[in-house]
Amino acid sequence: MNTKTVVIDNGTGYTKMGYAGNNDPQFIIPTVIATRDGPGGTQTSGAGGQSKQASSNIASKRGIEDMDFYIGDEAMANSLTYGVNYPVRHGQVENWDHMEKFHQACIYQYLRCEPEDHYFLLTEPPLNAPENREYTAEIFFESFGIKGLYIGVQAVLALAASWTSKREQTLTGTVIDSGDGVTHVIPVAEGYVIGSSIKHIPIAGRDITYFVQQLLRERENSIPPEESMEVAKRIKEMYSYVCPRIDKEFAKYDAEPLKWFKKCEFLHSVTKKPYTVDVGFERFLGPEIFFNPEIASSDFLTPLPEVVDQVIQSCPIDTRRGLYKNIVLSGGSTMFKDFNRRLERDIQKLTSARLEMSALSAHTSLGQNVTQKEIEVNVVQHKRQRYAVWFGGSLLADTAEFYSYCHTKAQYEEYGPSIARYNKVFGSVL
Ligand SMILES: Nc1ncnc2c1ncn2[C@@H]1O[C@H](COP(=O)(O)OP(=O)(O)OP(=O)(O)O)[C@@H](O)[C@H]1O
Ligand SMILES: [Mg+2]
Repeated sequence: MNTKTVVIDNGTGYTKMGYAGNNDPQFIIPTVIATRDGPGGTQTSGAGGQSKQASSNIASKRGIEDMDFYIGDEAMANSLTYGVNYPVRHGQVENWDHMEKFHQACIYQYLRCEPEDHYFLLTEPPLNAPENREYTAEIFFESFGIKGLYIGVQAVLALAASWTSKREQTLTGTVIDSGDGVTHVIPVAEGYVIGSSIKHIPIAGRDITYFVQQLLRERENSIPPEESMEVAKRIKEMYSYVCPRIDKEFAKYDAEPLKWFKKCEFLHSVTKKPYTVDVGFERFLGPEIFFNPEIASSDFLTPLPEVVDQVIQSCPIDTRRGLYKNIVLSGGSTMFKDFNRRLERDIQKLTSARLEMSALSAHTSLGQNVTQKEIEVNVVQHKRQRYAVWFGGSLLADTAEFYSYCHTKAQYEEYGPSIARYNKVFGSVL
């Protein structure tokens, strides 16, 4: 019997689920639910807002036969007759009733496991309210009767995911987690998130898709308008990369267009008619909005390397070198080729310029030559980056120590949901 810990990472865009010890999640589905109650549904945000009756209803069903809702791709396919809802917004659960149903389908319909036989590792965004943890515990222990629960902070799990045999296993580093809706820069020192220094950037995967779509619209008229978003997303995911300098990149395309322009074949999703799209500058202009946001928007203008530098500079001074030394990537929108190289170069430029300035001012005010050690900047790219949060969870939940960090069913029954308010940091145990 499979009694491995179940690992579920609920993202704003996608939910990744599977069993501890595996390298990849078994299912990756959009975090979407289609219900009869229409878009928005019965809104119960925050802990405790939910009626207990809904939970016991689900508990009594114990299966999937009378589920009158769909999740994931099936939810999208039923969007004409059902109301489509996104239970997670910007990483936070917005509708607990929908979230519970969503989990029910993940467990019984996708993973097809008996939750009573398993421990569960779930993830949460940094600075999640403790009530949300309590509420999650209530759902998982009372509705699903699980054996034990651990809720890990996504950034800490992403740090653990970057460990390889060659690298030092540290839980100190800066995590850049960029998914579909938002990009977070999160400093972590010895497994603890430095909450006051976290920054969010309103540029992520969806914004890049919109930008590529807009560029294609200006140039390409072969794309059927109803397909343009999906085409832009595919082009972004398959052909985009980060260039060292845009002006040189334009020159390269002008000099050798045949080498750089790509002809991509698509099939219309309904009529199945083929059409061809020429893909050019969008290949490098899409992800460039991380580095030169002004090319796409006038609302947010700070380049990502500057944001990372500001985040680290706002942390306690004794943590900073460790934070620059281990900048770790996580999430789908960090997958662009050479994203890490450009980030590393641009952050290094900022730190070197600062060092030069401080040496200069020491020289002019004190008349001394002060040489400070150059700061080592490393942006770590690794094989499991796409699903880093899930993989970090899978890695940690597969250790013997994991169980001693979990809240058990017996503890829940003795002390109630408040035990889940606090989850011990672990991870330096491998
Ligand atoms: N190879 C790729 N290159 C570039 N972008 C990609 C690639 N693969 C996926 N993406 C993009 O990554 C995004 C989804 O990433 P991810 O699954 O990490 O988000 P999420 O966890 O659901 O969201 P969040 O972390 O914001 O809550 C989508 O915008 C998708 O288009
Ligand atoms: Mg995510």
